[in-house]
Amino acid sequence: MIKNGIKIEFAQFADAAEIGILSKNEIEYGLGWKYRPERIVRLIRNSSKNVVVARSDSALVGFGIMSYQETQANLDLLAVKPGFRRMKVGTDLVQWLEKVALNAGVFNVFVQVRERNADAIAFYKHLDYCLVDRDKRYYRGVEAGVLMAKSLRGMLNFHSEPG
Ligand SMILES: CC(C)(COP(=O)(O)OP(=O)(O)OC[C@H]1O[C@@H](n2cnc3c(N)ncnc32)[C@H](O)[C@@H]1OP(=O)(O)O)[C@@H](O)C(=O)NCCC(=O)NCCS
Repeated sequence: MIKNGIKIEFAQFADAAEIGILSKNEIEYGLGWKYRPERIVRLIRNSSKNVVVARSDSALVGFGIMSYQETQANLDLLAVKPGFRRMKVGTDLVQWLEKVALNAGVFNVFVQVRERNADAIAFYKHLDYCLVDRDKRYYRGVEAGVLMAKSLRGMLNFHSEPG
């Protein structure tokens, strides 16, 4: 998918190092580094996950990782490089992953966000995610998290036949 010069596509193994660094700096800061490049490679190989990247020309400017289960999906990680924010890159990544989920028959998507990450909470609210729960020790026992969820049913297009 190409929109406004930004292309969304499946990640390659060669993207793993950059994805890992983005995760460390933009998502996992202060928590230790779990999503190292070798783990990202395993996720790219895992058929129940989708690892996607946003590119501007050939440069990686963002990524998202979604896990799919039978009836629900979880948005595990999402980040856009600071210089490319507020340009709808995050929106394009999430909508791409949501469409895949919907095509797979998944109707509910969940995402966990640090409670202090007001920017991300505002972003997910903008995409119609609702706050559903709070866990004061969600982030490796040290930080409160909120659980947000969205029903994808509203994305379904119903075409009624005349007569
Ligand atoms: C959260 C994040 C992915 C958003 O990506 P983005 O590409 O900048 O988001 P978009 O441009 O698609 O934003 C769409 C809308 O969401 C809302 N939004 C996005 N960032 C926002 C912010 N910092 N403050 C308030 N609202 C925000 C706005 O309504 C925005 O529309 P607008 O720009 O027309 O006002 C990005 O800020 C990021 O990578 N943050 C660090 C990592 C992170 O927190 N990840 C999420 C938790 S895993």
